[in-house]
Amino acid sequence: MLYIVDTANIEKIRHAIEYFPIAGVTTNPTIISKEHTDFIKLIKEIESIIGNNRMFHIQLTGSTSDTMFREAQALRDIIGDNLYVKIPVSEEGLKATMALHREGFHITETAIFTQQQALMAAMAGADFVAPYVNRLDNIISDGVNVVGEIVELFRQYSLPTKVLAASFKTAEQVHKISMVGGHAVTVNPDILENLIYHPLTMYAIDDFTADWEGVYGKKTILDMIKEQ
Ligand code: G3P
Repeated sequence: MLYIVDTANIEKIRHAIEYFPIAGVTTNPTIISKEHTDFIKLIKEIESIIGNNRMFHIQLTGSTSDTMFREAQALRDIIGDNLYVKIPVSEEGLKATMALHREGFHITETAIFTQQQALMAAMAGADFVAPYVNRLDNIISDGVNVVGEIVELFRQYSLPTKVLAASFKTAEQVHKISMVGGHAVTVNPDILENLIYHPLTMYAIDDFTADWEGVYGKKTILDMIKEQ
């Protein structure tokens, strides 16, 4: 499963890619607007941090397929081949998806709430679909089950489109997505840290340190090798 970080905050992106196996960055207009800074400068900086081997998902803001198409072209000139243009699913969005797919763009269809929206996006040529798990849970619609059914639909029809589950509030939701075969998740940095946190692990590490230092003091393995 691919882990992607859902933020446009430079420091949080730096930290995430240094400490976690991160496959890319996702943003949307809400996430970008939280940074209160120049959009073009921000995406260029993010690109320079993540490099061109990680995916960079940037949402288009145009409301017509023609505007979306031109935005995608202009963004690809800036970002390059690791750009994934995020397009909210709608009639105009699907039209833009089909046109951009024909031109070889990578596309992530976003704001997915139903299995049929996902299937339609896949048929239009989306590389990823992004169902919103927590927002589905908030309307008692079981986000994990929706994701599981989308995964199953893509498998049943041998579609290459992958499911990039989004909108998480808990680590448990993320875990359940991995159990239903979600191909990727995008999570905020807090959830990323919660995914590896366990107090018993912290106690175990503290015990290892205390036991070692009880006999060898502050000497490290490297100190001992040097002394030989
Ligand atoms: O990637 C989509 C995600 O950012 C939406 O999350 O927390 O606003 O539901 P949220």
